[in-house]
Amino acid sequence: MAASTPPRAGTRPASAATLAQLAELNQRLAWKPAARLQVEGLSIGYSTLRGRFHAVEDISFEVPAGTNLGLVGESGCGKSTVIKALMGLQPANTSVSGRALLDGQDILGLDDRGLRDIRWNSISLITQSAMNSLDPVYTIGDQIAEAIRAHERVSRATAWARAEEMFALVGLPAGRLYEFPHMFSGGMRQRAVIAMALALNAGMLLADEPTTALDPIMQSQIMTRIRGIHAHMRRSMILVTHDIAVVAETCENTVVMYAGKMAESGPTADVLERPLHPYTMGLQNAFPRLPVPGAPRQPLISIPGVVPNLLLPPPGCRFASRCPFATDLCRTTAPPVVRHGAQVATCHHTDRSEEFRAAAARPETWRNMRGAA
Ligand SMILES: Nc1ncnc2c1ncn2[C@@H]1O[C@H](COP(=O)(O)OP(=O)(O)O)[C@@H](O)[C@H]1O
Ligand code: SF4
Ligand SMILES: [Mg+2]
Repeated sequence: MAASTPPRAGTRPASAATLAQLAELNQRLAWKPAARLQVEGLSIGYSTLRGRFHAVEDISFEVPAGTNLGLVGESGCGKSTVIKALMGLQPANTSVSGRALLDGQDILGLDDRGLRDIRWNSISLITQSAMNSLDPVYTIGDQIAEAIRAHERVSRATAWARAEEMFALVGLPAGRLYEFPHMFSGGMRQRAVIAMALALNAGMLLADEPTTALDPIMQSQIMTRIRGIHAHMRRSMILVTHDIAVVAETCENTVVMYAGKMAESGPTADVLERPLHPYTMGLQNAFPRLPVPGAPRQPLISIPGVVPNLLLPPPGCRFASRCPFATDLCRTTAPPVVRHGAQVATCHHTDRSEEFRAAAARPETWRNMRGAA
C-alpha cells in the first residue's frame, strides 16, 4: 500500500474540487443496492494432523436484500468457518463445497482478483478481533482511503474526506485517522473497522461477534451503533453472536447451528417464540430474559454436556447425547430437514415440538440429563 496521508485534518480545508468529487462519490455509493445472499449446501472441511473433518455440513439459508440474519450457536459450532468462507479468507487446510450466490454471483472459489473485486466493495467484514482486519504498519486513515481507492477512481484527498465522514458516523474524531491501530483502544479499533466496512457502502455486511472482545458497556454502545447504521443505510447483514437478545432485536431471520449442522432456521420471531428444535429450546433457556414486572423470574438453565468430537461424529443426531427427548431413532439415524411453514429444523420429532417446549421450560428436564452426555 502506498502511503497517502494528506495534511492533518483542519490544517488545510478541502478544496472545491475535492468537495465536488466527494459529493459525486457519496451519491454513487448511496445508490448501491443492498445485496441478496443465497447459501446452498455449504460444507467446509479442515484437514488436520488428527484427520479430516467437516466443521460445517450442508448448510443452506438466504439473506434477502436489506435484511439481517442472526447466526447463533455455541463456540466451535462453525459460525466463523462460514463467515471466513464467504469472505474467501479460509486457511489453506480448508475444502469448501456448495454455493454462495451474492446477487446471483457464486463467491465461493473466486480467484484472488475476483475476491479483491468484491471485498469491502460488495461484501465487508467486521470480526471479533479488529486487530486482525487492520494492518499495524499503516495509519487507519491510509487503510480506509486505500480500500476506497482500490474500487473508486477518486483522488487521495477525496478518499480521505470520505474516511473522515465514516469516522464521524462511528463517533471517532477525524484527527485520529492519522494514528496507527495500536494507538487505539479496543472499542475505538472496533469502531474504526466498522468505518472501514461501511466506507464503500457494501451491499452485504458480515459481523462476526463484533462486540465479544469488549466490556459490556462498550458492547451495547457498538451494537446500538451497528443497529442505527443498519436502519439508516438499509444494508444486508449476517450477525454472528452468542446473544439471543441481540438477535431478537436486530435480525429478521435466524439460523441456529449445532456441531457444524443447521439445527433450525426461519423468521426470528418464530424460531425464538416457537422453536422446533430442542437445541434452540435449550439455548433460549441459557440466556437471561428481560424481567417482566410481576412475573416470576425465569431460572437460567444451561444445556448439560459438550459438543461431540467432529472427527468422530455420532451416527444419528449430533445433539442426541444432550437432548432430553432423544429416542433410539435419534441415536442411530441422522435426522431429516423438516419444514414447518417458513421454519426449518433438523430433527426427527418436530411434530412433538409443542410438548418439548413445555418440558424444556422446566429446569428438571435438563437436570435429569446430567451425566448422560
Ligand atoms: N484452521 C482450522 N483448522 C482446523 N480446525 C479448525 C480451524 N479453524 C477452526 N477449526 C475448528 O472448526 C470448528 C468450528 O470452528 P469455528 O468456525 O471457529 O466455530 P465458532 O465460530 O462457531 O466458534 C472448531 O472445532 C474449530 O476448532
Ligand atoms: S433428532 Fe432427536 S436427539 Fe436430535 S434434536 Fe431431535 S429429538 Fe433431540
Ligand atoms: Mg467464531
